[in-house]
Amino acid sequence: MIKLGISAFYHDSAAALIIGNKVIAAAEEERFTGIKHDSSFPKNAIRYVLSEVDKTIYDINEVHWYENPETKDNRVRTTFAKKPFRTFFLNRKYKKSKKSQDPKDILESMGYTGKIIYHDHHYSHAAFAYFTSNYDHSAILTVDGVGEWETTTISVGKGNKIHKKISIDFPNSLGMLYSTITAYLGFKPNEGEYKVMGLAPYGDSSVYFSRLLSIFENTSNKFTIQQKYFTWEYSDRIMFNRRLCKLLKLSPRLPEEEITQDHKNLAASLQKLYQYQFLRLLKTAKDITGSTNLCLGGGCAYNGKANSLAYNYFKSVYIPFAPSDAGSAIGACLDRKVKITPYLGPQFTDKMVKNILDKYKPFLFIFKLEEDKLINKVSKLINGGNIVAWFQGKMEFGARALGNRSILANPRDPSMRDKLNKVIKKREGFRPFAPAVTEERFDQFFDSQEISPYMSKVVKSKTKLIPSATHIDNTCRVQTVSKNQNKKFHKLITQIGSQTGIPVVLNTSFNLKDQTITLNPDQAVKRFINSNIDFLVINNFLIQKKNDNNKVD
Ligand SMILES: [Fe+2]
Repeated sequence: MIKLGISAFYHDSAAALIIGNKVIAAAEEERFTGIKHDSSFPKNAIRYVLSEVDKTIYDINEVHWYENPETKDNRVRTTFAKKPFRTFFLNRKYKKSKKSQDPKDILESMGYTGKIIYHDHHYSHAAFAYFTSNYDHSAILTVDGVGEWETTTISVGKGNKIHKKISIDFPNSLGMLYSTITAYLGFKPNEGEYKVMGLAPYGDSSVYFSRLLSIFENTSNKFTIQQKYFTWEYSDRIMFNRRLCKLLKLSPRLPEEEITQDHKNLAASLQKLYQYQFLRLLKTAKDITGSTNLCLGGGCAYNGKANSLAYNYFKSVYIPFAPSDAGSAIGACLDRKVKITPYLGPQFTDKMVKNILDKYKPFLFIFKLEEDKLINKVSKLINGGNIVAWFQGKMEFGARALGNRSILANPRDPSMRDKLNKVIKKREGFRPFAPAVTEERFDQFFDSQEISPYMSKVVKSKTKLIPSATHIDNTCRVQTVSKNQNKKFHKLITQIGSQTGIPVVLNTSFNLKDQTITLNPDQAVKRFINSNIDFLVINNFLIQKKNDNNKVD
């Protein structure tokens, strides 16, 4: 059985190929188009996953679509019908886009006439979370903006079955509230939420908390959100109205405006509010399922700070590597437990890499080293203060670079964070960087009972020795790296540890400002030449610039 999983038309479109019970390949469309969070039909990603096993669209037995377009259409129509005049133009726009977004029509135009199976949006989230976990019994909590109607679900996973117990429907959405305040703070919704999370520890969460909480009505297992403050039901541009400004007694921030203490306080209050509601959901999930295990899914499962609160109710917590809609391309195909790795994207042989490097020879010094020598050399370079782009093996699936498309640096150098933010990433100075640590020595430096292989939990740091990878509140969004998960990256961090006593490296995604994560060696070399990154490593090639002033297109 060959299954093609697809998620598209909201954000983070992706495709996955599953043969039997093995996830063969998966990728997000954004990596191929360069458009961040690309929501278009993932034709490039489909082409890639098929090419991994020399298949064509005609070889596919079933397509699994990550949500149910009919139920979604019902929600949109019902919502528009509430305010027909206000939504007149929006409705017209929706009808037009709907016509061009019919999965059946698009797949037929590609030559696929087989079965298309539609799954509930939150089922795809829950399936990706639970079936990729190690648990035989688990509570499953999914929280996002909105699927068809659902915005939050609580299910129980038992063996190869998922039973839904509770769902909360649109317009009661924690994800949309988070995105709304993200927009209020002058950041882009569906992207700027990370900035709000990064800003939150700088603020006083008591300032706006009670005002934000007054928007909610909490019942025993659910919540409702008063819609008088929001435009979610009749606008696709602005997410809030004047009533919210009145409630908050703060003007919305424009994107280029200075970030004031008020903005920091609002970010902190939002994070506190989210955590407050999230904790209630966790308690309900515990009460209903009685499980000691928890799987988290949906875009909100990228909120690492909130995720760590799950230990208040659960002994073990699993968050998959792509909990948002991208991962649903895989989740939609799964109907039983599966072993999976996040390294599901394209990889490049030495021969392919060499051909590309030859093109850029006038600009570069290129050394091919034996692996142990390379690890030793790169470790010394990082410890010596160099910024190294590290491109290895298969590209990661999901928002995080997990050591195959990463920029690595020395977290012990207190100036490294500012240098990376200002010079390489050209982003806001308040944004933190994350540490990657060997799994064996995780306990020694971080205060957490469980590993965090996908950077999805924020934990307290036990050390003052990695200031550039520690946030202002002494927390880290840590990645624990095991030999089994990523042998070469593990070897590198181990080597850094034997040279410095601290097996930790600062790990951030290999991209420059507003770019998607690096896909291929050609892109890697161009980005390297055009930036202030000191060294580039692709497979076992160590690459240095001849001249810092060259630029290439
Ligand atoms: Fe979602």
